Amino acid sequence: MSDGEQRFSLSPVRGEYVSALSILLCSMEPWLTLGYTPEVFEFYLLHSDPTLTRNVVLISGEVAGVVSLRNPWLFGPLIELLALFEGFRGQGIGRSIVDWIGERYQANNLWVTVSSFNLRAQRFYERAGFQKTAILEDLIKQGWEEILLRKQIRRQER
Ligand SMILES: CC(C)(COP(=O)(O)OP(=O)(O)OC[C@H]1O[C@@H](n2cnc3c(N)ncnc32)[C@H](O)[C@@H]1OP(=O)(O)O)[C@@H](O)C(=O)NCCC(=O)NCCS
Repeated sequence: MSDGEQRFSLSPVRGEYVSALSILLCSMEPWLTLGYTPEVFEFYLLHSDPTLTRNVVLISGEVAGVVSLRNPWLFGPLIELLALFEGFRGQGIGRSIVDWIGERYQANNLWVTVSSFNLRAQRFYERAGFQKTAILEDLIKQGWEEILLRKQIRRQER
């Protein structure tokens, strides 16, 4: 899969590099603060789940990040994990991926949760058209909040 302008392409996560990916993800915020371990990510990235699509993001053949989507979710997919590695952030790639998801799924809603302390990601999603819909207390870690964000996409009636 790739976006129209070929800025990135997606390829299913494969077993041989899951351990390296998991170590990298654990060293990044917000998962560092949330206390994720490589084992948790390894299971998440590999276990059988027909509603979860887990891909690596490729930029010019290099693994630049991970994106996972849960679909069907709530009249549109849930972006369950979106992570770009250092050197690939702040260049509009995340925005292209979110826009591509909206086009690919042709859904009326896109959903994501973001940690309350992850202010940069909150700003990123707000600029991409997401709005806060709920505060989910103690969802991942006791004492911490996740914010449920929704992007409504009004499509023409078919
Ligand atoms: C959040 C993330 C997916 C955004 O993708 P991106 O390609 O960096 O974002 P874009 O280049 O399209 O947009 C840049 C905006 O993202 C925001 N951003 C979020 N985290 C950032 C980071 N670590 N570095 C640079 N920009 C970041 C900035 O606020 C920036 O906004 P600005 O243009 O007002 O300065 C990516 O930065 C990332 O993987 N961050 C770390 C993991 C994370 O927080 N994931 C979201 C969990 S819900």
